[in-house]
Amino acid sequence: MSEKVYPVSPEVAAQAHIDNAKYEAMYEQSINDPDTFWGEEGKRLDWFKPYTKVKNTTFDPHNVSIRWFEDGTLNASYNCLDRHLETRGDQVAIIWEGDDPSESESITYRQLHERVCRFANVLKGQGVKKGDVVTLYLPMISEAAVAMLACTRIGAVHSIVFGGFSPEALAARIEGSQSKVVVTSNYSLRGGKVVPLKANVDKALTHPAAAALVESVIVVKRVDQDVAWNEKVDVWYEGLVAAASTECAPEEMEAEAPMFILYTSGSTGAPKGLEHTTGGYMVYAAMTHQLAFDYKDGDIYWCTADVGWVTGHSYIVYGPLANGGTSVMFEGVPNYPDNSRFGRVIEKHKVNQLYTAPTAIRSLMQQGEDVLGDSDLSSLRILGSVGEPINPEAWNWYHRIVGQGRCPIVDTWWQTETGGMMILPLPGATALKPGSASRPFFGVQPALLDADGNELEGAVEGNLVIKDSWPGQSRSIWGDHERFTQTYFTTYKGYYTTGDGARRDEDGYYWITGRVDDVINVSGHRMGTAEVESALVAHPAVAEAAVVGYPHELKGQGIYVYVTLQSGFEQSDELMKELRLHVRKEIGPIASPDLIQFSPGMPKTRSGKIMRRILRKIAEDDFDALGDTSTLSDPSVVDDLIEHRMNRK
Ligand code: WT7
Repeated sequence: MSEKVYPVSPEVAAQAHIDNAKYEAMYEQSINDPDTFWGEEGKRLDWFKPYTKVKNTTFDPHNVSIRWFEDGTLNASYNCLDRHLETRGDQVAIIWEGDDPSESESITYRQLHERVCRFANVLKGQGVKKGDVVTLYLPMISEAAVAMLACTRIGAVHSIVFGGFSPEALAARIEGSQSKVVVTSNYSLRGGKVVPLKANVDKALTHPAAAALVESVIVVKRVDQDVAWNEKVDVWYEGLVAAASTECAPEEMEAEAPMFILYTSGSTGAPKGLEHTTGGYMVYAAMTHQLAFDYKDGDIYWCTADVGWVTGHSYIVYGPLANGGTSVMFEGVPNYPDNSRFGRVIEKHKVNQLYTAPTAIRSLMQQGEDVLGDSDLSSLRILGSVGEPINPEAWNWYHRIVGQGRCPIVDTWWQTETGGMMILPLPGATALKPGSASRPFFGVQPALLDADGNELEGAVEGNLVIKDSWPGQSRSIWGDHERFTQTYFTTYKGYYTTGDGARRDEDGYYWITGRVDDVINVSGHRMGTAEVESALVAHPAVAEAAVVGYPHELKGQGIYVYVTLQSGFEQSDELMKELRLHVRKEIGPIASPDLIQFSPGMPKTRSGKIMRRILRKIAEDDFDALGDTSTLSDPSVVDDLIEHRMNRK
């Protein structure tokens, strides 16, 4: 662990929204008097009907109920667009930067408003009603933001499926959310390559259940190339919006009306569609965006995430636009046309805040100190990190090379479930320790529990839980409140269970140690090991599969797979390749196994349970820590596994 502490720079503190004294006073009020605190913060938004009630929440497992601002009404799209028109109609809302550096576009609030109204009318024309779910399977093009805002404008619930997910994964999410309309693009562009996105939708719709549901597929023409067409469902985006009216009144929504669902992986079962509602989510996204990045009028802010993840929802679209900000939306990748791309984009758009992931930082770091070329980075003020623990080496490199030693680094810990940032330093308030997400945001009460659920005091390590609700919290799993309760509120009664472990140091700083459940984090993407296992056992050659994470230099964690073959199948390089392809096809490229070890047996207890702890240790090359293996039904399996372990390098 790094010992170095970076004090708050006086220049940053002097002009920041929040300094340390303010942080302490506000934090205390947010915990002791949440109704007053959030009652005030809720005024960040424009409400059609103001709320009179603020917090009404319980984590009681018999009746988990999370309601904020419940008697108020509002519209998310109105808060991101209409209310800015008078004062900043001609200000740029979104700077879209294409995969090809010669392509970019600045979209003002007025223009965005018009596009959103048109597409909202298109959705209505396709039969979408308040409360209906619309699946968005889109690349990082401005139409993605337009479609999100158009859904919220008419009270439809969007469900974004990351473009890297396979047709199978897409079909499952269409079915799970009962979507009748899918929005996609004919192709997408990444790193100069054309990716057939709509073909994936076509494949998804070969699944009978998805096909029975979907009435229309709206296709954005991103690339001027032909694409297979099904007259029954396919319609071009461009034709529809050109014919649509530019006027569309925002729907008046209750604060607790569902706003979007977003699927994410857990330790068991199929991915869960987490439900976020309108009022609390929007208040929390706006506030955290403003304070984490010390965002001020006129700042150019760039989050490199994809809108397919929650980071893109809260910190490319909803937070920045609710704040009347200018948000850069980047279609490309860090290494195209060359490794200096991030630097070029920062220079070109004079970016003030950059929010990216440790995996991107590590891959730049690998290219050497001059990776950003001669790009002018002097516009940068604040740097953010998200998605996985940032190792001190990467932190220091980010600080020194990208931040030129003067930009504070905001390491933000949060989750799809939390809607917004939960533990993070505030630039003007919190001294930085490389590798620590530091202190809780307002209203957030972290605690560390031992395995029996006892709260631990002082400098200790334990299971990270949150003691009470905050406005951005997910309200449920779409259509399955029981699973929501089971997953998050029953392990430790009265707490929200995060699934992460953490250490708290003498200064009360939190250091996230990673997941304590069967979830791994590959390049900041969350992956349930059970999901990968079930994809593998669906292959005819596989009798049994166990998946664990192992430390990976670039990805944070890599995917290590143990496979026992069905009798009659022989291990081979060919089969290894085939299994890899099979997982890509079932889930998507992000789930592709890094290492596959064929193993005649698995370490099992006498009752037949696979002991993953042992498999994890072997994958980590940590043979001394295997612990007691005498309870295994066949302890000799372990020696064989060690002998034939895959080389990590
Ligand atoms: C999991 C949530 C947060 C939005 C993107 C990922 C890990 C996330 C950090 C961080 C250490 C982090 C946790 C968490 N994580 N940020 N700054 N330091 N770990 O959202 O896909 O829901 O994943 O990502 O393990 O539980 P997600």
